[in-house]
Amino acid sequence: MDRSYQFRRRLAAQLLGVALAGISAAGAQGCGNDVETPGSGGQGGQGGAGNGGFGGGSVVETITECFAWPQAEAGSGGAGGVGGAGGSGGAGGSGGAGGSMVPPCPPKDAALMYVEAGGPSSCGAVVKTDGTFANGECCYEMDVTTCGVGRPFLVEGRARAASRTRARSTWMESALPAPDLTGLSPDERALLAAAWTRDGLLEHASIASFGRFALELLAVGAPAELVERAHEAALDEVRHARLAFALASAYAGEPIGPGAFPFAGGSLPVSADLADVAARAVREGCIGETLASLLAAEQAARATDPAARQALAAIAEDEAKHAELAWRAVAWALRSGDASVARAVRAAFAEAFAAGATLDVQAGGAGALEAHGRPEAAALRASMERALAEVVQPAAAALLGSLSAPESQERAERG
Ligand SMILES: [Fe+2]
Ligand SMILES: [Fe+2]
Repeated sequence: MDRSYQFRRRLAAQLLGVALAGISAAGAQGCGNDVETPGSGGQGGQGGAGNGGFGGGSVVETITECFAWPQAEAGSGGAGGVGGAGGSGGAGGSGGAGGSMVPPCPPKDAALMYVEAGGPSSCGAVVKTDGTFANGECCYEMDVTTCGVGRPFLVEGRARAASRTRARSTWMESALPAPDLTGLSPDERALLAAAWTRDGLLEHASIASFGRFALELLAVGAPAELVERAHEAALDEVRHARLAFALASAYAGEPIGPGAFPFAGGSLPVSADLADVAARAVREGCIGETLASLLAAEQAARATDPAARQALAAIAEDEAKHAELAWRAVAWALRSGDASVARAVRAAFAEAFAAGATLDVQAGGAGALEAHGRPEAAALRASMERALAEVVQPAAAALLGSLSAPESQERAERG
């Protein structure tokens, strides 16, 4: 696809420029605390990052997930009956022994049946440990993969989004032309409605993500330009959500919009820890929005329906701006010279890339679905692989490479 290739090359050059300038150029906005630059020639920094192993990736977080498990209480007491497998007659004798033979929690392969690992913005979860029982709950460690369009709103590593509601027309972009429904089967319309609803919910979550990001930039003393751009980006995400819900509603034949956003307990934690904020900017922006931009560009390049194409092209351009903002913000944070920030940024990139999970999206198929912006999965996966290899990896290597010089110097000075 010529258009997506050109878009990818343009974004790659743009982000590489930001990253190569790294901790030196990030100070151009006047954030004080000038740091001696590691050399603006820059090219040498590329490849020196020592993070050669970008194996692909998406946003993957390890979390502990728990759910109520009353069966376990029964198991710890009178489980002898079930545990009779012990076999030799005296099953009832020692309840404790019998209990130990019966796993108090479901095996890890079955744990996902009991947790909310799905949701509109989760690509899936892999349970890593057997469950441990405490206080009436079974808890498991699991890797949750976040994916989809736009910037996720992560809470303890999990993407959060509102639920869809019907008969909600206030989130529909009226300026967007209606898609041409001619020739679409009911199944195709249902798939397109579901796909655009999912995107709308994720774009809606991106508004919350940028709202928090703007507050956190204030909390860590970021320059005005970064704060201004974060607010502008939140408005972009409002438009993206409206575009997506307008399309979803057209395909569904009824108004669709988001419900209330599920802020936990009505509160929004705002971190004032620069390392924490920078690491989340890596996950949500440098990776999440860079991939989202390139994915939308690929979809737009393949779409022939004017409405779908117009929406995707607009989203791709905006997400590219948001990706650049994230890279700039991380570079600014690194310029603080705080070693904990550098470690957090390195770790965030390394975790995401080492996970090697594929970025799942709501795929469609050839023909009418592709014409309406939903190509088949193989095309989208190939696009993501190119995005990681040709855009994210070089920019991350350059950014991390720009760190290596001062860090080495610091070590040398320490003797
Ligand atoms: Fe967006
Ligand atoms: Fe975005």
